[in-house]
Amino acid sequence: MSFDLEAIRSQFPGLALMDNGTRRIYFDNPAGTQVPVCVAAAMADCLMTKNANLGGYFASSLDADRVVQSARDAMADFLNAPSSDEIIFGQNMTTITLHLSRSIGRLLHPGDEIVLSQMDHDANVWPWVLLARDLELEVRWLPFNKESFEFDLDVLDDVITERTRLVCVGGASNLTGTLNDVKAICAKARVAGAMTFIDGVQSAPHIPTDVQDIGCDFFVCSSYKFFGPHQGILWGRREVLEQLEPYKVRPSPAELPWCFETGTQSHEGCAGIAATVDYFALIGQTMAQDQLKKWAQFSGPRQQVHAAMDLLFEYDKTLTNRLIEGLLNIDGITIQGITETDAMDRRVPTVAFTHEIAAPVAIAEALAKQNIFVWSGHNYAVEVVKTLGIDETGGAVRIGPVHYNSIAEIDELLDVLPAIVSS
Ligand SMILES: Cc1ncc(COP(=O)(O)O)c(C=O)c1O
Repeated sequence: MSFDLEAIRSQFPGLALMDNGTRRIYFDNPAGTQVPVCVAAAMADCLMTKNANLGGYFASSLDADRVVQSARDAMADFLNAPSSDEIIFGQNMTTITLHLSRSIGRLLHPGDEIVLSQMDHDANVWPWVLLARDLELEVRWLPFNKESFEFDLDVLDDVITERTRLVCVGGASNLTGTLNDVKAICAKARVAGAMTFIDGVQSAPHIPTDVQDIGCDFFVCSSYKFFGPHQGILWGRREVLEQLEPYKVRPSPAELPWCFETGTQSHEGCAGIAATVDYFALIGQTMAQDQLKKWAQFSGPRQQVHAAMDLLFEYDKTLTNRLIEGLLNIDGITIQGITETDAMDRRVPTVAFTHEIAAPVAIAEALAKQNIFVWSGHNYAVEVVKTLGIDETGGAVRIGPVHYNSIAEIDELLDVLPAIVSS
């Protein structure tokens, strides 16, 4: 079997919902995706039958221990982490980043430089700007090219200096959709002896992630962006994590990974994460025979998950192409991102656009009336909208398909959009 959209869609109850007799079309996915039944069921089961704190001698606590460990193992597979001890859970990416920045800051000194990018979501910008303010660090900015919507990696050679201690960059932009060459960026940072912190929140839902291949020191993502529960996940390289002082209370464990997990975690969230990874593994097993061969260096769920992500990205690209082609045919629309048909490998399906007259918020509101869900504005990509010069005009409309969307849904959007922007 190859990619089977109907089999996929049937697993997501949210996709069948109607409002006043009109189907819902979810293009709000970069802000959070729908979840399959297996994820919701695992979370409900955890709450109903495994509800206890960790580390006890009784049955429900032992079950809860197993739930959390299975989520760690699952995320180690999803990210190709060397060990599940390097997987750390938290409330969301932003909270994890703010929390960890305090520990990373203990390794930095006044005058040290950190590199931040103008393509990043504010969650991978402002925690570091605040740290720089507190510790008198110098921030150096990596700009992106406004025509190509990509980083010019030669520029990075000038931005990184011998004083650079940390480079923070995103895997994919939540606004332009650009996929960044994080492997090349990490290689350059490593030569300079700098640590790397990769925000994978928008790349992890669309492409296979391999933290060992990327060569980063930290990788953060959020499972609610990839069909799972509201939860953040950090992978950290053991040697680097071991150098950090964890900010924790005295009775909590001093060992990895617990020392970075403050307070009681969402065990039901962990159950949901494990089920989310199982969801991908099943796709890999049942629909991605060709892609499995490419990942022959892995086995079991790790291989299946990576094969599934490859398969789903191939499908994503058909949606992206159709969406971009249709938008380019509508008068007055400018796509704020890569549009070349042969460059779909360098972007995720998240497509932002502006219109010469219609305000982004008005377009989003009008689409909502048709039960087509999209976001507008800066979407927290504050530096991006400033760089593109669209911060004062309401940002952009963001259309974010994922693998459960159909070409028919893209076409429905494209059918109603011309009338909306011209009214
Ligand atoms: C690229 C990117 N990074 C970080 C975040 C913040 O994620 P969280 O809501 O898990 O804090 C988002 C949320 O939209 C995002 O798109």
